[in-house]
Amino acid sequence: MKFGQFDDVRKEYVINTPQTPYPWINYLGNEQFFGLISNTAGGYTFYRDARLRRLTRYRYNNIPLDTGGRYYYLRDHDNNDFWTPGWMPVKRELDFYECRHGLGYTSITGERGGISVNQLAFIPLGYNGEVHRLTIKNTSNANKTVSLFSFAEFCLWNAQDDMTNFQRNLSTGEVEVQDSVIYHKTEYRERRNHYAFYSVNRKIDGFDTDRESFVGLYNGLHEPQVVVAGKASNSVASGWSPIGSHEVKLTLAPGEEQSLVFILGYVEIPEEEKWEAPSVINKKPALAMIEQFATDADVDRALQELAAYWENLLSKYQINSGDDKLNRMVNIWNPYQCMVTFNMSRSASYFESGIGRGMGFRDSNQDLLGFVHQIPERAKERILDIAATQFEDGSAYHQYQPLTKKGNNEVGTGFNDDPLWLILGTAAYIKETGDTSILDEQVPFDSNPNNTATLFEHLKRSFYHVINNLGPHGLPLIGRADWNDCLNLNCFSNEPGESFQTTANIEGRVAESVFIAGLFVFVGPDFAELCRMRGLEAEANEAVSHIDNMRATTLNHGFDGDWFLRAYDHYGEKIGSKENEEGQIFIEPQGMCVMAGIGVEEGLADKAMVSVQERLDTKYGIVLQQPPYSKYYLNLGEISTYPPGYKENAGIFCHNNPWIMIAETVLGHGDRAFEVYSKIAPAYLEDISEIHRMEPYVYSQMIAGKDAVRHGEAKNSWLTGTAAWNYVAITQAILGIQADFNGLKVDPCIPSAWDGFEITRVFRGDTYVIKISNPNHVSKGVKSITLNGAAVEGIVIPPVGDGGTHEVVVVLG
Ligand code: BGC
Ligand code: NOJ
Repeated sequence: MKFGQFDDVRKEYVINTPQTPYPWINYLGNEQFFGLISNTAGGYTFYRDARLRRLTRYRYNNIPLDTGGRYYYLRDHDNNDFWTPGWMPVKRELDFYECRHGLGYTSITGERGGISVNQLAFIPLGYNGEVHRLTIKNTSNANKTVSLFSFAEFCLWNAQDDMTNFQRNLSTGEVEVQDSVIYHKTEYRERRNHYAFYSVNRKIDGFDTDRESFVGLYNGLHEPQVVVAGKASNSVASGWSPIGSHEVKLTLAPGEEQSLVFILGYVEIPEEEKWEAPSVINKKPALAMIEQFATDADVDRALQELAAYWENLLSKYQINSGDDKLNRMVNIWNPYQCMVTFNMSRSASYFESGIGRGMGFRDSNQDLLGFVHQIPERAKERILDIAATQFEDGSAYHQYQPLTKKGNNEVGTGFNDDPLWLILGTAAYIKETGDTSILDEQVPFDSNPNNTATLFEHLKRSFYHVINNLGPHGLPLIGRADWNDCLNLNCFSNEPGESFQTTANIEGRVAESVFIAGLFVFVGPDFAELCRMRGLEAEANEAVSHIDNMRATTLNHGFDGDWFLRAYDHYGEKIGSKENEEGQIFIEPQGMCVMAGIGVEEGLADKAMVSVQERLDTKYGIVLQQPPYSKYYLNLGEISTYPPGYKENAGIFCHNNPWIMIAETVLGHGDRAFEVYSKIAPAYLEDISEIHRMEPYVYSQMIAGKDAVRHGEAKNSWLTGTAAWNYVAITQAILGIQADFNGLKVDPCIPSAWDGFEITRVFRGDTYVIKISNPNHVSKGVKSITLNGAAVEGIVIPPVGDGGTHEVVVVLG
């Protein structure tokens, strides 16, 4: 069942009912200021860090689930009716409802009793505020007198403290109101140099800033007493919970339409300019921001700029295929999600509270893979930030805080896959841009500016961290966990509530990861190539010999007959082996080892893929392992805590399905690769939205596996490495256009029935229009390539470099 439809021309998902199977959200903002907004106008805003600079309050896991957002109540003075255009929170039946989630904006329209209200929300480029344009139209034949009441509840900045420290916080709230602007200045009197404001571009008829006065102590947001009464109470918050609410009264003739521009903004101010008079905050910067959006024309211009910004980003890779679903994933929604995951890492979604996790070391490096072609300069900055949290021995903080950019001590280090992802991320940047100068940048260890080394040296430490930490079989030690955070082989936790990842791990140097071995062989060649590019031939050869050893070790000790083993545990026992009772086969090493080419020549890679299909595949995607763990295993950790079929315990973990797609393309299996792709790509799941439940325009982290009661139901949409890896799988491995160190590699692996397709790819300043035809209906194999009519040797197009548009004709066969 569908709850909306794609509008490919406007690049929007159009939702036709407020009662979607779960709140279907969108993200606003691209750089510093962000908002989450659901199809019923729920959500919140923050500046840079969802934990430390939260502007508005949001109660996770609320009842009803999605309550709290930017609400605009329409009060009809003729009949005392009141409602909200996004349906929530008043839930009064609407004559018309539509939500359009677009690229960086959301537009919600509700109509009732002859009045239509459109609420358009977005964050202009380079602007630290959310703009809400409310357009109110009288669709009836009679004059209408209405009041519009705005509502936003302020968070006292630190979202964690805001939800817990009530003995203090209920006495600190402060506001100022001047003209049509409400200023939220809690803690500004002491150590903060920032405040928030909420304005409207029109004279107001009243305001409220005290939550209890506006809502009523015994009321909910569905019936705020001020809206019920139809008159603002001009309350000034003093402690308790500060809010912002304006009342604007309008009289509308039949057919008349009026619009109001509200701004919810953030101001940071130098210490010496904080005050305009004793206790009176300096409002100049806020007024300047408000001035920028004084008129509708200002709003229209900023919307056009935002559209142009996205048009440019998306133009870097566009496909024209016969499949609408594929087109909309590749051209619009997958790159869009990649931008969001790049910005947010795993911090703020409807499943990530914004207070838990910072930027992940491995996560951010992987997110780069799907983003780097969009704005390489930002990817570069990110790489340098991530590398600066690495330790001298090559290990790394697992996470860092976006605001301070410092490593997170609570989580610490010891996830032994982490360092390798830095090589992958950096190589992706260099392949995209050709800019090797990044390797010469001086980068701190552990954020210490007095202890630095070149980025290249960081990569070397990453590479050798693996070699310096091998276990009894010569495979990499796993540490606290590898990619699978829940496979905790050194944890042995039996205290409820302990973290499985960070509880003091036993110092056994026995537990090994076949996955890290595969990852090492997958990314190692990039490191060797970078050595060569720097003229370090001997270092390159040494790296290659380590890679060759690891490949051999993986085949000797990491293959179980029909598939790759997952690991050896603390006792040196096999995990992911047919000898195990549960957890006999895992997806991760099959994907990663075959992507790395391990066992291809020997025919073992083929075997591994057959085993995946036979044992792990379902109609909704490939599960993480089989059989699921039915009880808690002290020596395995968190993986065995989830009920069978959920999360890492045999859920369909969408992040690693693309590894299988890529692995299948290594083997030339284009039909199978695309089958795996289309099973989890959201646009293909739109028709089963009632089962899938999450947004049909973005990937979710997990879909419940075949052992789960709710097989097919997704969770944790938006912030997941799934976005980047699926983008890599479809654009680079299946469609086969991949940036490489010395040019653009063209090597598709597609369903054999396809006749061909066309891709426009902007690469290092040139635009390549690539026409691929498949006259002999093969899956893989390039017969010929021409560039502007001239034959190309091999499958890498050397960069032309004249900034022009070039025609590439590729024939498969
Ligand atoms: C989740 C993992 C996550 C880990 C660390 C676990 O509960 O299942 O997906 O990576 O926590 O936050
Ligand atoms: C989510 C984490 O963010 C990611 O780093 C990890 O690889 C997966 N969970 C799998 O456990």
